[in-house]
Amino acid sequence: MSAVAMVKPPPPRHTSSSSKRTSRPPPPPPQVGTKRKDHSQISSSKATSSSRPKINTGIADLSISIKFPVTLRDVKVFQKKHQLGQGTYGSVFMGADKVNGEIVALKRINTEQEENGFPITAIREVKILKALNHKNIVKLNEIVTSKEKGQIPKNVFMVFEYLEYDLTGILETPEIRFTQDHIKSWSQQLLSGVHYMHTNKIIHRDLKASNLLINKKGELKIADWGLARSWNNDMKRLTNRVITLWYRPPELLLGAIEYGPKIDMWSVGCIIAEMFRRSGFLKGSNEPVQLDLIFKVAGHPTKDTWPNIHSQCPLWKNFQKQALENPLPRKIRDTLRDRLPHPSWMTEKAKDLIDNLMILNPDNRWSAFQALDADYFFADPIVKPAHKLNMRFQVESVHEWEARKKHELHLKNGTLPAPPSHPRLVSK
Ligand SMILES: Nc1ncnc2c1ncn2[C@@H]1O[C@H](COP(=O)(O)OP(=O)(O)OP(=O)(O)O)[C@@H](O)[C@H]1O
Ligand SMILES: [Mg+2]
Repeated sequence: MSAVAMVKPPPPRHTSSSSKRTSRPPPPPPQVGTKRKDHSQISSSKATSSSRPKINTGIADLSISIKFPVTLRDVKVFQKKHQLGQGTYGSVFMGADKVNGEIVALKRINTEQEENGFPITAIREVKILKALNHKNIVKLNEIVTSKEKGQIPKNVFMVFEYLEYDLTGILETPEIRFTQDHIKSWSQQLLSGVHYMHTNKIIHRDLKASNLLINKKGELKIADWGLARSWNNDMKRLTNRVITLWYRPPELLLGAIEYGPKIDMWSVGCIIAEMFRRSGFLKGSNEPVQLDLIFKVAGHPTKDTWPNIHSQCPLWKNFQKQALENPLPRKIRDTLRDRLPHPSWMTEKAKDLIDNLMILNPDNRWSAFQALDADYFFADPIVKPAHKLNMRFQVESVHEWEARKKHELHLKNGTLPAPPSHPRLVSK
């Protein structure tokens, strides 16, 4: 299918800066042309701090894609259960296969509100998900339709594997007690999925906690590919209004329309910081406030740190004067120590990782490949694979939508403080 399926991954370059890190062998390059199976085993069970885990982020042969039946099945093959989420283009429900009982997530694509027929975001999401196959990317099983009368489908549903939690649900449910093992493993799993997609020249453009699903086996999977697109170095004019505000990098807030995979890496930095804090890191209420928050924490860019900011960021001219007259210093490492439920988990090496993901200049910001090699993952307690995580949480399942509803109920009854209002990306 699509250009997406034709992309062959380039071998990643190992560009570690620290001399200490050069003693470690780099992660092996992705393997091209392997069969549809699992391609990123993180075999760290036997690793010690001196022998690093091997990261195999091998790429599936993208020309082999899911074969959907020619006639799409009717949604009636699933028994509809409760609602899991409310998306921009429809709702997400839990469903059970009436024959084998398998639990799935049904994402309804509402075609009625769309002027031009089928929403472009849904077409992109299906195309990209069909091409990707990785243990840290949610699996699309099939597409089903509902027809009321006649042959024109009224609704179209994407059928996904079901995961019990999303990261926002976990972070906002105080009864769920997780450890630094969880943070480290989920950070590595997130980076593995991002490395895989970036190697395949796909950018996600809406990485945030509620788009990361987690199952009972401790596996983290990247979901919500409605804003994702295939990308190459020659693309000069891309949509600027992407990525939910709290996770949006400075170059986008400064108007960049020529950008690349590094936009996702800023979001990854925000998400990792959020796991330590159990709350969003930079929670701006609008774009100017968000940019202000970024400069307060990450300092102002300078000629040295971001020499080509003028050509990349058309809006920089509006801030330049302020930056020259009253330059703000970078103090991200100190900020990362604030308001932590478990300050000891935020080690120097954890700070190194987040610090390097949240570099203002995208050219200097760490790639997923560099971040996977961060000392943080190899320092004690060494990163654990998903199956080694203790997933016996007090709450069997929770997603952002239910967590929010619960908060609202508590709020109504006067038993809890107000829930944080998470921003939505309205332009999807
Ligand atoms: N496979 C799944 N298993 C369990 N829950 C899911 C699954 N897919 C989505 N959800 C839940 O539904 C929510 C909305 O799904 P998704 O993000 O894909 O839709 P969206 O329309 O793009 O949402 P939004 O516009 O809010 O970002 C997710 O945040 C998650 O809580
Ligand atoms: Mg979403």
